[in-house]
Amino acid sequence: MTHNTEHAALLDLPAAPAVALDPLARAAASLRGKDLVSMQDLSPAQAAAILKLAHELKAAPERYRTALASKQMAMFFEKPSLRTRITFEAGMNTLGGSAIFIDQSQSRLGARESLRDVALNLERWVQIVVLRTFAHATITTIAEYSSIPVINALSDLEHPCQALADFMTLEERFGSLRRVKLAYVGDGNNVSHSLMLAAALYGTRITVATPPQYGPLPEYVTAARTIAESTGAVIELTNDPLAAVAGADAVYTDVWASMGQESEAAERERIFSPYQVNDALMSNAAPEAIFLHCLPAHRGAEVAASVLDGGQSAVYDQAENRLHVQKALVLLLLGTTPGLQTAAPLTTPD
Ligand code: CP
Ligand code: NVA
Repeated sequence: MTHNTEHAALLDLPAAPAVALDPLARAAASLRGKDLVSMQDLSPAQAAAILKLAHELKAAPERYRTALASKQMAMFFEKPSLRTRITFEAGMNTLGGSAIFIDQSQSRLGARESLRDVALNLERWVQIVVLRTFAHATITTIAEYSSIPVINALSDLEHPCQALADFMTLEERFGSLRRVKLAYVGDGNNVSHSLMLAAALYGTRITVATPPQYGPLPEYVTAARTIAESTGAVIELTNDPLAAVAGADAVYTDVWASMGQESEAAERERIFSPYQVNDALMSNAAPEAIFLHCLPAHRGAEVAASVLDGGQSAVYDQAENRLHVQKALVLLLLGTTPGLQTAAPLTTPD
């Protein structure tokens, strides 16, 4: 999304609010016309504003049921999906809009025609584009040429919608995200990248424990630590899962072989087995710690069934919150937030 002004005219969006807005409401308004390709696209205030609206949407979804009347979303998925596809489609439907799903699993986007041509066509028909791709560059390229908002629904490098839902879940459970200690144990993958950036934005302490050679990309660590300088977040890396979870409020893991890495699954299972989240590992976390997983999960591999299905597991709350947080995100990117001026004043995070 490169031309915000043109975009606003194209969508016939409401004029920017004339009333004085508090900092978080200003941040919400500033999301109008933007993309979410990376968590790095957000400021701390914008990230907080998305969660604020997501909580409102979860509490009173009926208030927004016509907010996106006549708005259309195009969704291109090169990889399978349960949660992401359904939450975007259900989300658009319950906001009065609609979503068009394009199964892109048989050929990569850009194979039939250039990504630029895809982008320049889409903006003539729909108001927002959602992409799940192998190459992160596919999404950045579509975003570069699109005058409409573009959302990353998972790439090889990031999964920002997942991270937003995860931090919404943490906020529900613990209140202030600044008091939370999150441990991520497993592969330094797309999910870990977005979680580190989200932790940085929300002022959270995160420790990422991975096998040597499987850590998050250094540029993501640097980016998260740079953001953390202004928010008080702490971004730590280790190869020791026990040390990572010591005293943690939440323990998070993801698959050991991501979509596209199936041929490495056997080797990865051998390397990652000491990183399984099981009862012994969870007993090293805080007594009230919760367990998080983006799903799909493999019981007996990255997580023991007793943990995934046990009382500390919050994985279905995470999955539910994908719906609310993505509805909030779409409303904000399209500049259609009817509650913004009439709702109780938004507050800045403490
Ligand atoms: N967590 C997640 O993105 O799930 P799906 O792959 O089913 O969309
Ligand atoms: N890291 C996983 C996340 C799935 C939601 C993958 O990319 O396959």
